[in-house]
Parts: sequence; C-alpha cells; structure tokens
Amino acid sequence: MTIADYQEELIETAQKLATRGKGILAVDESTPTCGKRLASIDVENTEENRQAYRGMLFTSPGLGEYISGAILFEETLSQSHADGEKMVDKLSQQGIIPGIKVDQGLKPLAGALAHETYCSGLDGLKVRAAQYYDEGARFAKWRAVLQITNKNGPSELAVKENAWGLARYARSVQEAGLVPIIEPEILMDGDHDIDKTSEVQERVVKAVYRACEVNHVLLEGTLLKPSMTVPGAECKVEVTPATVAKYTIQTMLRSVPASVPGIVFLSGGLSEEAASVYLNEMNVLGDTPWNLSFSYGRALQHSALRGWAGSNIDEGQKFVLARAQANSEASKGEYVPGSQASSDEKLYVAGYTY
Ligand code: 13P
Repeated sequence: MTIADYQEELIETAQKLATRGKGILAVDESTPTCGKRLASIDVENTEENRQAYRGMLFTSPGLGEYISGAILFEETLSQSHADGEKMVDKLSQQGIIPGIKVDQGLKPLAGALAHETYCSGLDGLKVRAAQYYDEGARFAKWRAVLQITNKNGPSELAVKENAWGLARYARSVQEAGLVPIIEPEILMDGDHDIDKTSEVQERVVKAVYRACEVNHVLLEGTLLKPSMTVPGAECKVEVTPATVAKYTIQTMLRSVPASVPGIVFLSGGLSEEAASVYLNEMNVLGDTPWNLSFSYGRALQHSALRGWAGSNIDEGQKFVLARAQANSEASKGEYVPGSQASSDEKLYVAGYTY
C-alpha cells in the first residue's frame, strides 16, 4: 500500500479529528508514566488498574460531543474493558476515533548538547502502523522534544534530527493509512522570555515543514501538535492569556502551512484552567487558516484522576466531562473562565517524559 491508496481516507480522518468544537484526549502515557500518575493517588500500577482508569474515561456519557479522537498506548489499543468489550469499540460507540502513540521514546542525541535527544521508533514503523490500523487505529502520534535551556536555544543538530524524524514518521504512517500527529514539543524548562520561545519555536516548526516537504508528506492528512508559545517556567516576567494567544498565533502563522487542517495544542504542564483560557483567547482572536483545538493529556485528566481516586467512576467522569466541555468551548472562543470544575494547580515537571 502507498499514500495514494489512502489519500482520501487520510484527508477525511484529519478533517474529522479537526472538527470545530472538538479536540483530542491524550491517554497514551507509557506504562512507567501511567505508574507515576497512579502513584499520585496511591493506586498500584497494574494492568487491571490502568484498564479501570482508562475504561472510566472512555465510557464517560456524552464524551464524544467534545472529543474527536483519543491517543492510546499500545496496551490499550488491544485491551478490553472490564465488561469484555474492546476499548476501541467503547471509543467508536462515542464517535471517538482511536489513535496510537507509535514512537518508542527519547534517546540521547550523540554530538548534540548534553541534554538533547532524538525520538526513536522508525525501524519497522510502517509494519507496526499497518498492524495498528488492523486493530482499529486511524491516527498516530510521535513526540519529539526540544529545549531552550541553553542561551542559544536547541542546537542545529537537534532541530534537524528531530524535524527529520517527525517527517520520516509522518510519511511512514501515512503509507499505512494513519493520520500523523506531528508533535515537536518545546519544553517549558528554563528562564527564557516569550520572545525567545517564539524565535526558537518558529525555527523548529519551519524545519519540521521543510523536512515534510522533502519526505512528500501529505499535509492535508496531518495535524500539528505544538506547545503554546509561552515563557520558560522560571521566567520572571508574567504574561497575560491575551499575550500568549497573540504570540502563539503569530508563531504558527509564520511557520505552519495553510494546508494543515488543524493545530491541536499539547498542555505541556500548564494548569487545566490556563490550558483552557489560553486556547479560548486564541479562538477569540480567530481568523486562522487552521482549526485551533487541543490534544491535552494532563490538562484533561488531572482532576478526573483525583476524582476517580481508584474507584469513584462518577466523580472521575464528572471531571473529565467538565474539562472536555470547557476545552470544546475554548476551541470555539466561547469558554467562560471558571465556568467548569477545574484545577489551577501547575502541572509543570522539569525534563518531562511521556
Ligand atoms: P500534555 O497535554 O500533558 O502535555 O500531554 C500531551 C501529550 O500527548 C504529550 O505528548
């Protein structure tokens, strides 16, 4: 099979994922990362508990009104719910498209700065992607990570290598019918200001699309998942939501082709409330060539995990629905801050892995 065999389907899937008023629920934490989340509520990291927690999220009544797709970790894609039905079927019944994390994690990048990484998982990717397609996945995610902790930002090597990996991945999974979510995350670690973030992010995202061009990626069948253009976590200068919105849109307008149907931001350590408010401000400014929405992990799950606390399904579902609805409203510029239950606890963790 080639991209040509899937062209129409890829475009249709990408457009469905980018439906206005809907966004993506990222539940693709690797097993060790899921263990950290469960440990925070004193729940053991067993397959049964992961199944119970994620099954609770996916069966939240009406979730599909706000959520177009869910990114899964490999275990969940083939897993059944406690009632015996497949997790992917639970999602499909809500009109939620199942997706899959296909990268195999960050590795040290020899020859680059000490903390810099590349994202692994290209070997055999097309074969794995075809298997995931057979199991019901229709889109994929690959997360490359760059940092601004060095004064000059990421090295040229790290920018090039990560852009190239994202483009090779995108092309490979498109050949198996999966829409690639292209995620060049820029960590919040550091004390740089928002201008620095904007400069680095523009350089990174432009490099990603140059690599996509060389690899003949079908841009209409992709989504971009960037961080918002925010100052470093240790920056002393506070910025308003309106400033974040203005900078983020400017960065995206300078670097993302108009043929990309949707930009789905990651929350990257922002609090639940900030992630909604910033997205809302962007959509209030409006008038962008792409749909601007969300693909949040922490900012959709933080309160839900605490509400569930190992067994309380109703509380867990109440919170995930509240955040999903809030972010759905934010993706239309209609969110009234504080109108839905949320936490404003900062979820930033230095050197975050997923
Ligand atoms: P956060 O929203 O928690 O940053 O996670 C999204 C994600 O998928 C990171 O790869």
